[in-house]
Amino acid sequence: RHRVNCPGRPPWWTLWLPGLLAGCGGEMSILDAAGSAARQQFWIWWAMLGVAVAVSLGVYALWFYTFRRREPPPRTPREERRIMLRWVLGGGIALPVASIIALLVFAAPTGRGMLPLPDDGAERIEVIAHQWWWEVRYPGEEGERDVVTANRLVMPAGEPVDFRLTSTDVIHAFWIPRLGGKRDMIPGRYSSVRLEADSPGVFGAQCAEYCGAQHTHMLLHVEALERGDYDAWLAERRPPPGPGEGFAEAKEAFGEHCAACHTVGGFAEELVDDDLEHDIRGPDLSDIGSRPTLGAGVLPMEEGAIAYWLQHHQTLKPGNRMPAHDHIDTETLQAIGAWLETLEP
Ligand code: CUA
Repeated sequence: RHRVNCPGRPPWWTLWLPGLLAGCGGEMSILDAAGSAARQQFWIWWAMLGVAVAVSLGVYALWFYTFRRREPPPRTPREERRIMLRWVLGGGIALPVASIIALLVFAAPTGRGMLPLPDDGAERIEVIAHQWWWEVRYPGEEGERDVVTANRLVMPAGEPVDFRLTSTDVIHAFWIPRLGGKRDMIPGRYSSVRLEADSPGVFGAQCAEYCGAQHTHMLLHVEALERGDYDAWLAERRPPPGPGEGFAEAKEAFGEHCAACHTVGGFAEELVDDDLEHDIRGPDLSDIGSRPTLGAGVLPMEEGAIAYWLQHHQTLKPGNRMPAHDHIDTETLQAIGAWLETLEP
């Protein structure tokens, strides 16, 4: 292994300083709020820090006080008991209870503000967690198909959005640090959270509940768009996607190796042998060519990335639910990858 050549030891304070400053910025920082819920959580964070610092300083002060007074004055057992009660009941029970109640009263309105209101016309987006990727659904009106994508969440900016959350396997958690959250995603149950982005932008999000080996590789790319751009984004995905370019070369292989778990706007289902149990467990690939990353943030989407992913995904993201493709020759995987790259609206 490469040895890092370190000339002497850095001063002790440099160890925590970068960590402290790193917390102030970046696309995943709660201290850089970009939405109403996150802004309120930001103040809760500071209030909790303030209370924690005040309590710590009080405890340190008492601690130093005990050093200073070497010889305790003579006390009767009765006085001894009174002092004990004062500190145990006052400092050990009353003070923490009062601080926690004060924080609770301060924080309660934020929690209420993050609850969706029924039928007030807010945009609704469904997010379904899987080991280890995100399914994002935009339900259609009567007769329309749902727009389904993966590992990318596009939302309108400047208005509240209600997220309906669930999971298909284990508990995950939905968290967009700069917009607010987090909320657990529990299999068999729906939970909701209302978030709002102040203005258009790109935000990082990450599964916030340990959910197995690839919990770290469960990133969600969040984009807030102006209302008009959001509507256009959705409108171009609403009609069923066409077969893209190079489908003829990839069709047979896709039907044989991929279509039992992946769909492409529905039409890939026709490729699957009827005897096979058709159970969609992998991401819908309808607009895969337009997604910013592959494997929930493992690789950036660029030319040749899908074919590379198909060959090496068990090395890049060990244990992911897609079987290794060692039995399929490289040309076939490249043909499938090249075709999938053309799938964008
Ligand atoms: Cu999903 Cu951690």
